[in-house]
Amino acid sequence: MKFWLPEASSNAPEVDFLLLALTLMAFAVLALVALLMIRFMFRYRAGSKVDRGAIAKKTWGVESAWTGATLLVFFGLFVWGANLYVRQFQPPADALTIYVVAKQWMWKTEHAGGQREIDALHLPVNRPVRLMMTSEDVIHDFSIPAFRIKHDVLPGRYEAMWFRADRPGTYDLFCSQFCGTDHAKMLGQVVVMQGPDFQQWLQRNGTSDTLVASGRALFIRNGCDGCHGGRGTVRAPSLNGLYGSPVPLSDGTTVIADDRYIRDSILMPSSQVVASYAPVMPSFSGVVGEEDLIRLIAYIKSLASDKQS
Ligand code: CUA
Repeated sequence: MKFWLPEASSNAPEVDFLLLALTLMAFAVLALVALLMIRFMFRYRAGSKVDRGAIAKKTWGVESAWTGATLLVFFGLFVWGANLYVRQFQPPADALTIYVVAKQWMWKTEHAGGQREIDALHLPVNRPVRLMMTSEDVIHDFSIPAFRIKHDVLPGRYEAMWFRADRPGTYDLFCSQFCGTDHAKMLGQVVVMQGPDFQQWLQRNGTSDTLVASGRALFIRNGCDGCHGGRGTVRAPSLNGLYGSPVPLSDGTTVIADDRYIRDSILMPSSQVVASYAPVMPSFSGVVGEEDLIRLIAYIKSLASDKQS
């Protein structure tokens, strides 16, 4: 077994460097304090012949330099760490979105083309990947140590994070939040492949049901098109061009229609009613599961791109 984990994402070297810097700084301060303590213990031990009469004068220079230097160093480490953390949650625009649904005790992943996996995740190398994660039951935590990423996966909402795997290979996927009896068995494998291999994998595992296509079928089966269908916008707002656009609500506020907004509107329609519409939409909570929500959202997103083109 190797002592140091492989660094397999663009993020990993910086995380390791930060950890190293933090550890070295902590050791430097520890060593300084410990050495001074030991030195004074011996120097001023009982019976030693040192001058104890002189009263130390306050040395402003030394004091402010020491305080200023440590403040600067540790505040610098904080800014560095915070910056790294914030960047992990701001995916670039061209990131490939993959959906992750956690449940006791497995990871379900789903690609835009409808390819589904359990306890596995296939990825292309050197391509930013954005994970949209949610849980069907309790709090889990999606963690790939070789990529130096981890993030809680919460029931009832979407959590996103991104990374760029930069080394082909197979890596471990863990749940790192205690989530019940079989938490320790909630493991998986992440397979990072070269671009052409990944395309082949997608084709081999492809179905005719892309997320958008099966979302469209669900949209019709649940009767959504009865009110939100193309023509009539009397009872309900049209969904064309909705994704990513601002939506005025009846309480006077405005929200951006992102994945979370659409999800909440399906499950809790009366919580965010669009301005000038009556709150007549029934809740689909308990009717539409997490995986079907992902498909419905993918379909509604595709309506947005229809409008742009
Ligand atoms: Cu899921 Cu621990």
